[in-house]
Amino acid sequence: MPEGVAAGRAVLLADYTTLKVGGPAELWEVEDVAGLRAATDAPYRVIGGGSNLLVSDAGVPERVVRLGRAFNDVRAFDGGTDVWLGAATPLPGLVRRAQKAGLSGLEGLLGVPAVLGGAIAMNAGTRFGEMSDTLQEVELFVDGSLERVPASDLGLSYRHAELPAGAIVTRARLRLTPSTPEAVQAYMDKVDAARKGQPHVKSAGCAFKNPPGESAGRLIDLAGLKGRRVGAAMVAHEHGNFVLNLGGASAADVLALVEEVRAEMRSRGVELELEWRLWGF
Ligand code: FAD
Ligand code: EPU
Repeated sequence: MPEGVAAGRAVLLADYTTLKVGGPAELWEVEDVAGLRAATDAPYRVIGGGSNLLVSDAGVPERVVRLGRAFNDVRAFDGGTDVWLGAATPLPGLVRRAQKAGLSGLEGLLGVPAVLGGAIAMNAGTRFGEMSDTLQEVELFVDGSLERVPASDLGLSYRHAELPAGAIVTRARLRLTPSTPEAVQAYMDKVDAARKGQPHVKSAGCAFKNPPGESAGRLIDLAGLKGRRVGAAMVAHEHGNFVLNLGGASAADVLALVEEVRAEMRSRGVELELEWRLWGF
C-alpha cells in the first residue's frame, strides 16, 4: 500500500460516537486525496465527531470514512480573519482559539462537540449563532476530485445543509470579525449560561429539531416524559430533548425510547422531527 493511502480496519462505532452505541464497521481513516479516492471506491458514509449519530447495534455495511490528522488545523489557526481550515478541526478548540485571538463569529458554537465538517453538514448552532454565520466556502471531495463551492450554494438553514450526494467536506473557509478577547469571552459566558442546564452524561445532544418558535425539550418536559426509560436509555431530567445512555444502552433501546417520545408527543398534537442521523436501521 503506497504511503498516504488508507486501508480500512474493523472497529465498533460505539467507540466513535458520543452516545457510545453502535456496532461494527470498516473505518477508513484518510490523510489525503489518494486516501479519499481509495476509501470511496465502494459504498461509504462519512463520520465527523460522531456527536449527532445513532448507529444501529448491527453497525453499517458501508465503509465509514473519517478525515485524519492532516485535516485537523486547530494548531495552524493563526488568528487570521479569513481562514481555510481542515474539516477534522475540532470546534471546541477552534472556538477557544478564536476567542484568544479576539475574533468573533464562532462563540455561539461554544459547547458543540463537533468537528468542522460535521458542524457544516448539520449547520450546527445555537440561538447565539450558527455555522453559516462565518462559513464562506467549502472544499468538497465529490466523485474522486476536489471542488470549491460557495456557502451560498449549500442551502444552509436551521440544522440543515444541502451537500451534493456523497460529498465529503474536506476544508472550509471561514470569515471571522475582529473584536477583542474580552468581548468574545463576555458573549461566550452568555452562551455558557444558556447551556448550564444541559446534561453531561453520554448523549448525542438534542434528539429532535425544535418546532418553529418552540423548544422540543420544553414540550417534552411539559408532557412529563423526563426520566422515561427503555433499558439503559433515559430522557434526561436536565433537558427533555436529551436522551442519555446511562451505561450499556443498546441502539435498539435508544431508538425505542425516541420513538416512544415521538408517539406520545404526536398524541398531544406535536410532530417532532429527528435531528439525529440514524445509521444502519
Ligand atoms: P457526525 O455526528 O459525525 O455526523 C453528522 C452528520 O454529518 C452525518 O450525516 C455525517 O455523515 C455528516 N458529516 C460529518 N462529517 C462530514 C464531512 N466532512 N463531510 C460531509 N458530511 C459530514 N448541535 C447543535 O447544532 N447545537 C448544539 O448546541 C449542540 N449541542 C450538543 C451537545 C452535546 C453534548 C452533543 C453530544 C451534541 C450536540 N449537538 C449540537 C449535536 C452535534 O454536535 C452537531 O449535530 C454536530 O454538527 C455534529 O458534528 P459531528 O462532527 O459530530 O458530526
Ligand atoms: N426548557 C424547559 N424544559 C426542558 C428544556 C428546556 O422548560 O426540559 C425551557 C428552558 O428553560 C428555556 C427554553 O425551554 O426557557 C429553551 O431551552 P434551551 O435554552 O435549552 O433551548 P432549546 O431550544 O431547548 C436549543 C438547541 C440546543 C442548544 C440550545 C442552546 C435545538 C433542537 N436545540 O435547545 O442544541 O444547545 O438551544 O442554545 O435546536 C442540539 O441541537 O443538539 C442542541 C443541544
